Amino acid sequence: MSQSVLQTLNAHLQAAFKALDLPAELGLVVVSGKPDMAPFQCNGALAAAKIAKKSPRDIAQAVVEKLEGNPDFQAISIGGPGFINLAPSDALITKRSNDLAVSPLTGARPADELQKIVVDFGGPNVAKPMHVGHLRSSVIGDCLQRLLRFRGHGVVSDIHLGDWGLQMGHLITELQDEQPDLVYFDENITSGYPKESPVTIDDLSRLYPVASAKAKEDAERMERSRTATSELQAGRAGYRALLDHFISVSIAALKKDFGALGVHFDLWKGEAAVDPLIGPMVEKFKKDGFTEESDGALIIRVAEESDKKELPPLILISRAGAALYATTDLATIQDRRDNLHPDVILYVVDFGQSSHFEQVYRAAGKTGLFPREGLEHIKFGTVNGKDGKRFRTRAGGVMRLSDLLSQAKEAAANRLSEAGLAKDMDEEERAEIARMIGLAAIKFSDLQNVRTTNYIFDLERFTSFEGKTGPYLLYASVRIKSILRKAKKLGVKAGLIKPLKATEKNLVLTLDSFNRALAHAEAKRMPHILCEHVYNVAQSFSKFYADCHVLGDDVPADVQASRLALCELTLRQLTLALDI
Ligand code: ARG
Repeated sequence: MSQSVLQTLNAHLQAAFKALDLPAELGLVVVSGKPDMAPFQCNGALAAAKIAKKSPRDIAQAVVEKLEGNPDFQAISIGGPGFINLAPSDALITKRSNDLAVSPLTGARPADELQKIVVDFGGPNVAKPMHVGHLRSSVIGDCLQRLLRFRGHGVVSDIHLGDWGLQMGHLITELQDEQPDLVYFDENITSGYPKESPVTIDDLSRLYPVASAKAKEDAERMERSRTATSELQAGRAGYRALLDHFISVSIAALKKDFGALGVHFDLWKGEAAVDPLIGPMVEKFKKDGFTEESDGALIIRVAEESDKKELPPLILISRAGAALYATTDLATIQDRRDNLHPDVILYVVDFGQSSHFEQVYRAAGKTGLFPREGLEHIKFGTVNGKDGKRFRTRAGGVMRLSDLLSQAKEAAANRLSEAGLAKDMDEEERAEIARMIGLAAIKFSDLQNVRTTNYIFDLERFTSFEGKTGPYLLYASVRIKSILRKAKKLGVKAGLIKPLKATEKNLVLTLDSFNRALAHAEAKRMPHILCEHVYNVAQSFSKFYADCHVLGDDVPADVQASRLALCELTLRQLTLALDI
């Protein structure tokens, strides 16, 4: 596989700087800020001027002279105080475009250093409804796992269910009030429980809010839930058996939800899974002198002198003797370390949990459990309603994932009829298309935001076929497919690419930046960088298509073949990128 056009020019510039006894790195070539002047530029003459004690323009001039006659350049000029503007030659663009056309990944290459990466995302809680925060985690986390896999890394994703907290005590006690005779509540029985779950997912969704509301009002009711939680964690057999039922019933329901979202997890583990590791882990921390007693609780101090804001200690065991959220997270790190051997663990969780993760990561580093640098919190902002407040249902509650998806589907169906699209299809086909467009709308509108910012949920805008939206990008792909279909009917076949017009060359250069976008998105763990690329591709294609006839009597056969190949290449890259 050849190098990208940018890399090729970069190598020439670096060699020229080196030949002038200047640091080669200063020859760095970047995408131009003024693309109508030249697609690329090098700003190194300005920094070199300080080192060589010469004027930047003189240095730029010397560099330009070194590059004279190089067939990879069409034009080199000096602008402003000493920027070097670079235009690649047609021959270079042509050669590269044909390399891209035969590259299975349209120019994408594996990462230089391949890693083993665990991605912890999704994180719904058993029995509690999923909210849009879980949706963001799922959409961003899934994009990252796809991106990392595409780049060649070994990825294991884990949903890390919240299945070990107070909500379990609520469920157990509320179920006991409803059905006190269930065998699980008989303390004299400790084994041989029925295989069949005593509850359905609807029961769970009903029981939890009832119990939680009661407990809010009534301290005694709360105490019962707390005690049940502690007894569960202490290993009471009937409760543990119930927990297993709750978890499997929830997982079955969640698999449906996440399936509809097109999101996949390798592991469906949860907090409860690491319970057996907690005791020995805490003992080891104690023995190694990392813990302290404080107010009846067992803590690990994690504050550091350079902290601007004081970070409270991590509570390992509460005063009531319970393992907490941070404890299960530490034990999970140990579990992953020993069974999956990751280089890095990514946690795709909202901003609100920043302190929690900072505590856990520092404790992991300090105790030697896992290197601090290998633990990354991939933070994201909130989803807000048009009123600027956190997005909720009309009734004011948390938004269910399944409701959200049906809303998106409905909005997409409306858009289709407005635009007069998919008219000739039957009901079922149209519904399936609306589903896909709705999904694209939700996912893309989330991913295209810089993940650390908040955004406003606006289905009307997300489902539009214009602008930076998922549906626009699907539409762009569909348009190319229809060109390819037409070509097939006419018997036109793709051939060698020979870009003639500026819009064609520009499309090639945009496609040629795919690998850069992938690498950059990976390095920053930022899906919007890839979204930006896909959008650029669609726009460059649109300009090309408006400017260049592909099929038509006025177009010579070799030009048809070239443009058709460019269409095919564009579609392949759009498909790969949209899949990520
Ligand atoms: N269940 C948690 C929540 O709903 C998210 C879990 C995130 N992952 C983790 N390893 N703590 O807030």
